[in-house]
Amino acid sequence: MSKSTPSAPIYDSSTRLLHAGHEPKEFHGFVNPAVFRGSTILFPNAAAMRSRDQRYTYGLRGTPTLESLERAIDEMEGSAGTILVPSGLAAVSVPLLAFLSSGDHCLAIDSVYGPTRVFCDTVLKRLGVETEYLDPHLGADGLRARMRDNTRVVFLEAPGSNTFEMIDVAAFCSVAHERGAVTMMDNTWATPLFFRPLEHGVDLSIHALTKYPGGHSDILMGSVSASAGFIKTLRDTQMALGINVSPDDAYLVYRGLKTMPVRLAAHQSAALHLAQWLESRSEVARVLHPALPSFEGFDLWKRQFSGASGLFSIVLNGGGTPAADAFLDALRIFGLGYSWGGFESLALESQLNDRREARAPAEGPVIRLQIGLEDPEDLMRDLEAGLEAAASVQSAGR
Ligand SMILES: Cc1ncc(COP(=O)(O)O)c(C=O)c1O
Repeated sequence: MSKSTPSAPIYDSSTRLLHAGHEPKEFHGFVNPAVFRGSTILFPNAAAMRSRDQRYTYGLRGTPTLESLERAIDEMEGSAGTILVPSGLAAVSVPLLAFLSSGDHCLAIDSVYGPTRVFCDTVLKRLGVETEYLDPHLGADGLRARMRDNTRVVFLEAPGSNTFEMIDVAAFCSVAHERGAVTMMDNTWATPLFFRPLEHGVDLSIHALTKYPGGHSDILMGSVSASAGFIKTLRDTQMALGINVSPDDAYLVYRGLKTMPVRLAAHQSAALHLAQWLESRSEVARVLHPALPSFEGFDLWKRQFSGASGLFSIVLNGGGTPAADAFLDALRIFGLGYSWGGFESLALESQLNDRREARAPAEGPVIRLQIGLEDPEDLMRDLEAGLEAAASVQSAGR
């Protein structure tokens, strides 16, 4: 689908996705891959064992089931290879470990997923890697000013977690590459159906498959997809760390991918509908949704992304934590929970006090909403009850 028509259907990539990663002819016509469980894989003779000259050698190193999922993701991302890891957070930590060494400097967007920051500020710091955070609003020029001779990794996430700041991904990557740094991007929000980072110069595209690919809130998994020059180091590190995923989990994510295009289309339209309605409410100071023309990063989103998923935030019009609590406690359909990308709607108050540079909204508490697959009109009534509860606290504080 063309980048200039964000609301057009997602046929081309979804058709590819439906048939990616598995060849029924190789599996007696079965349209889905088999679940191969196993640590041990036998060799026919000593010479084959010595040379490891066969496609599968040991469960950790790959099975046909894991390969089906890896290939499907490669097809969507346009990558040379994909590794699977047991969580989205591991899909952040493994590539950082693969490409950073003691004495290196890492520059990350200041609105990265919180646990990404914790990994950088604890494990990487202990290993002698310094991480600095960059306000995404400073753009590629801001990045250029902060690059050092030892900056080895530039870590991007767009839109940013909780506050959804957008960046010009290609411009950031070209600055990073001018100085010889590796670029990584957490692409979980958009999925490769709405954004393909490698086409914009990103070297490693990261996903929490836990979210939309799994889609049913019953699985944790992550993936890292690399362009040709980076897959070997990435896979060698994965194997050195002894990390892979179970075939049963991989099968579930593979199955989830088949319905991801229709689920995402529903998440997208319900979220946009509710975001527009929320903009009209006096209890809401601002809606942070990249596909709203009123949003600061709208033009960047429209130029680069071909759709929007179902996660966005609202900034309440004052009232502090009591208003946030009143809003959350009044909800009956929205659950209070952390993960997202599943079938069910969720809400939480975003904690933004770990930001070093990026401005957190000042008007009031930030509530992150994951719009699930329930009837949007029911969700609207639920949010209305939340806003009315917040309003009683907001007016008491005026
Ligand atoms: C943007 C982003 N990246 C990565 C993750 C981590 O995923 P997981 O929960 O599978 O570790 C999350 C989880 O919320 C996330 O929001």
